[in-house]
Amino acid sequence: MICVILLQVFGVVSVAEEVILKSSSLLPINAKDLNSVVNICQEDFYPCTCETYSWDLIPSLYVHCNEVPSFESVQAAFRRTTASQVKEFVLTIPSFEENKTIPANLLSGKAAQEITLICPNTETQLTVDPKAFNFSEDYTNFIKFSTCDLNQLDYTFLTNFNVLKEISYFNSNNFSQWYGLPSLPSLMKISVDSSSDFKDFKNLAVSKLPALSEYSIRLCPHFELLPNTTATKKLRIESCPLFKEWDIVGRQSRLTSLSLISLNNQTIENALDSIVSSSVVNTLAELILTYNGLTQVPSQIQLFSQLQNVTLSDNNISTAGNRSLAFSTPKLQRLYLNRNGLSHFESEAFQGDFSVCQVLLGSNNLTKLESSVFKSVLEQMDATDIGSFTVDKNPFECDCDLAWIFRDNLHLRDQIKDGKCTNGSYFAELGPKNFAYCNEETNTSTTVTSSTIQSTTIPSTDTASRPFQLLDPVLFLIILFISISV
Ligand SMILES: *[C@@H]1O[C@H](CO)[C@@H](O)[C@H](O)[C@H]1NC(C)=O
Ligand SMILES: *[C@@H]1O[C@H](CO)[C@@H](O)[C@H](O)[C@H]1NC(C)=O
Ligand SMILES: *[C@@H]1O[C@H](CO)[C@@H](O)[C@H](O)[C@H]1NC(C)=O
Ligand SMILES: *[C@@H]1O[C@H](CO)[C@@H](O)[C@H](O)[C@H]1NC(C)=O
Ligand SMILES: *[C@@H]1O[C@H](CO)[C@@H](O)[C@H](O)[C@H]1NC(C)=O
Ligand SMILES: *[C@@H]1O[C@H](CO)[C@@H](O)[C@H](O)[C@H]1NC(C)=O
Ligand SMILES: *[C@@H]1O[C@H](CO)[C@@H](O)[C@H](O)[C@H]1NC(C)=O
Ligand SMILES: *[C@@H]1O[C@H](CO)[C@@H](O)[C@H](O)[C@H]1NC(C)=O
Ligand SMILES: *[C@@H]1O[C@H](CO)[C@@H](O)[C@H](O)[C@H]1NC(C)=O
Ligand SMILES: *[C@@H]1O[C@H](CO)[C@@H](O)[C@H](O)[C@H]1NC(C)=O
Ligand SMILES: *[C@@H]1O[C@H](CO)[C@@H](O)[C@H](O)[C@H]1NC(C)=O
Repeated sequence: MICVILLQVFGVVSVAEEVILKSSSLLPINAKDLNSVVNICQEDFYPCTCETYSWDLIPSLYVHCNEVPSFESVQAAFRRTTASQVKEFVLTIPSFEENKTIPANLLSGKAAQEITLICPNTETQLTVDPKAFNFSEDYTNFIKFSTCDLNQLDYTFLTNFNVLKEISYFNSNNFSQWYGLPSLPSLMKISVDSSSDFKDFKNLAVSKLPALSEYSIRLCPHFELLPNTTATKKLRIESCPLFKEWDIVGRQSRLTSLSLISLNNQTIENALDSIVSSSVVNTLAELILTYNGLTQVPSQIQLFSQLQNVTLSDNNISTAGNRSLAFSTPKLQRLYLNRNGLSHFESEAFQGDFSVCQVLLGSNNLTKLESSVFKSVLEQMDATDIGSFTVDKNPFECDCDLAWIFRDNLHLRDQIKDGKCTNGSYFAELGPKNFAYCNEETNTSTTVTSSTIQSTTIPSTDTASRPFQLLDPVLFLIILFISISV
């Protein structure tokens, strides 16, 4: 108990110091207001708890009412305290009040920016008085329902919630009646997570939701249908095996971000086939296809013309075939291939402009980096110093196969991040000295052949290493022999 109090005191001290720093640096924040906010968490919100976090630029209150005996006890806490606004209000409905309506003016004239309502169990019929949050109208931007049956819910209490941006449902049933849903001019996003009876958005009055353009639906085994609109900009579907409406996705002519996660290889094939024949092929900037058991890079990816981010992490892509990473997009920014069991790139796997691309290859099965695959890409990246490969957690054998980097092209090493050899050495600490023992003659022949295949530019560093080639090993032995005998 004493520890908790001490921690709170220190927390407040550091926030107070921040306040002093801020007001002295003439930020347009009223120091008096801030001080009152800082003091407020010292107010007694019992039976609720109050926290402030130092990472908030403006100290904000997080009030959690998780073990309260009644709605009245919550109202009493807010009546007593003086902060007019809290950043977050979380209410776990007490089992004592199960199935009772959340009363008018629950926050006793105060407002909450983010509201989370948690029912004691998924059988609880949540009902909310039309005036339950009537002082939060122009303040709340997020509301979440968790573990409730919303069959009886009348959404009238959201009337005039003009800045509400997101509604989120977690582990809840029967919410898709949307009975009484008012016009919500700022509502951008609907998220649904782990809601087993959720099927579709048929009853959602999208005409009252002019800004709605983002959906995130995960772990909904019965989800089938998106709303019949073409306004979607961001869509995430995760573990919803019945969703098959790829032609509707293709009609979203403003779609910029699509995440298809934990579906399966065949579903992804069908989805991409349908989507690349729609206008989305020219709008999509971000494509995320994790946990789909893909065994190769889907060839349709090459057709998207505006892609910036491509995430293929957490699949089973053990080989990247020739031209599999060929993008028609002007400048790819992120290509994520981590955790795939990747062990091989064919020599022409990469095609196109990777100069500003962060390529993540971490947690794979790579034992080497062939110059025929990586040299020309690394040279593109080196030219901008923006692009890079991140190669952590791969079993690299740091033998003479890697001499082309550390001995012959050390400047490319900086474009390879977090590399580590199986013998324990980090790439960052290896240089020409470590590979001087490798035989130039036999080993440059492979480098030369492969670099002529993959690159039209003749790297200047090859010329730099040429003088050494003149030193024939036999000649070297003769010289050595002579100098020893002298
Ligand atoms: C709340 O309603 C559900 C469903 O009608 C019912 O099963 C449950 O017993 C009710 N709980 C209480 C405390 O009345
Ligand atoms: C909110 O509801 C309470 C209780 O019905 C009422 O007294 C108050 O005037 C209402 N305030 C606003 C701003 O609507
Ligand atoms: C949905 O509501 C109906 C009617 O109240 C109820 O019979 C049904 O059990 C609810 N569904 C779920 C999954 O709780
Ligand atoms: C979707 O909307 C379009 C035009 O608004 C209409 O022609 C079409 O029949 C609708 N589809 C469904 C399945 O409701
Ligand atoms: C690409 O990913 C980065 C990092 O996650 C993100 O900040 C950026 O908005 C993404 N770009 C697009 C077009 O989604
Ligand atoms: C999907 O799986 C099949 C059979 O395992 C395989 O032939 C095909 O290449 C896979 N497709 C992708 C995109 O991984
Ligand atoms: C993909 O890899 C995971 C983990 O390595 C494995 O459990 C799974 O069976 C693989 N799936 C396929 C389709 O190869
Ligand atoms: C990939 O391209 C290289 C170089 O052109 C070629 O040698 C190799 O056979 C190709 N691999 C496949 C599987 O076609
Ligand atoms: C990585 O390679 C090793 C040895 O070839 C193999 O035993 C292992 O299964 C591979 N791991 C993955 C994830 O493919
Ligand atoms: C690992 O291998 C490199 C290259 O062969 C060598 O220079 C280095 O000393 C080795 N590191 C350790 C810890 O043995
Ligand atoms: C040259 O490279 C090969 C692998 O390509 C390697 O096995 C060999 O040890 C290298 N030659 C010398 C003399 O180190």
